[in-house]
Amino acid sequence: MGPVILAIESSCDETSAAVISNGKVLNNIIASQAVHQKYGGVVPELASRAHQQNIVAVVNESLTVSGIRKEALDAIAFTRGPGLMGSLLVGLSFAKGLSLALKKPLIEVNHMQAHVLSHFIEEPRPSFPFLCLTVSGGHTQILRVSDYLQMEVLGETQDDAAGEAFDKAAKIMGLPYPGGPLIDKYARQGNPKAFAFSKTVMPGLDFSFSGIKTSILYFLRDRKKENPDFIEQHLNDLCASIQHHLVGMLMEKLEMAILQTGIRQVAIAGGVAANSGLREALQRLAEERHCKVYIPAFEYCTDNAGMVAMAAHFKYISGEFADLNIAPLARMPIES
Ligand code: KG4
Ligand code: ZN
Repeated sequence: MGPVILAIESSCDETSAAVISNGKVLNNIIASQAVHQKYGGVVPELASRAHQQNIVAVVNESLTVSGIRKEALDAIAFTRGPGLMGSLLVGLSFAKGLSLALKKPLIEVNHMQAHVLSHFIEEPRPSFPFLCLTVSGGHTQILRVSDYLQMEVLGETQDDAAGEAFDKAAKIMGLPYPGGPLIDKYARQGNPKAFAFSKTVMPGLDFSFSGIKTSILYFLRDRKKENPDFIEQHLNDLCASIQHHLVGMLMEKLEMAILQTGIRQVAIAGGVAANSGLREALQRLAEERHCKVYIPAFEYCTDNAGMVAMAAHFKYISGEFADLNIAPLARMPIES
């Protein structure tokens, strides 16, 4: 019988808890924070306060739904980083408190590794090695995954993350935060070739997304001079074109990684993996390049403790436990 672990995720703006038993995620409770919407982005101070308010209820619900008593847990896992320092501290401190009270070992989890390991929660599971494009509000990386806890960055963004680019583009168009899912929704009715935006060319497998917001900003400024209602009248086409542009940038580098490494198993993870345009483009690329594609279920794409629990399971098996003095890391390389 494998371990029973309670996992806590609080790196950004979702407070989440999950229980995993013998490698099977029993539940994945997520409390999202609506408080950030009116600010057009996550406000770190408000995020930590909301985690503080939500965490007891979220953890209790996870334990209750799984029918597991606290005393029956084999370990307590938490996200150590990367993420917002104040947010990470809430989950980490709560996990430490539980670990001390229950006399159970602690397991630290790297949030980016957890996104990758979300692929092992449900079938079909990729085999090693595979490529993983992790695209979220905070990160954009192409990884070579050699084993459960062994992954290497082949390329990454040098500035904004892909999710951030979606959110900033949406904000420029007056859409509420987070704008990524809204761009996806409106894009379905739009023409992806209606408008073109300039692209920053990056060497190798690295990305740059910071130029897109300036490009969209100037484009809209000029169009609005001629027609003040330009955005409202062309919202679907604008969303479709922006999505097409961002997805194109991601696919270009992913294709390059496939050709460079010869690896034909490709996974996507992170919040932006929920994007329907990205999913379709990936399926097309897979057909052209004869690759097998892995996309996690939607609930495991955005931040969730289920993926943290999965990572903790592999760490428990390999005997990797954390010290009670452990501190959170706002920046945390994927290799650690
Ligand atoms: O992984 P995640 O929940 O949090 C981070 O670790 O950052 O990712 C959140 C990001 C946000 O930028 C959000 O706009 C984006 O994922 N996102 C999407 C979609 N769903 C979430 N972007 C584009 N299309 C979507 N359907
Ligand atoms: Zn994330």
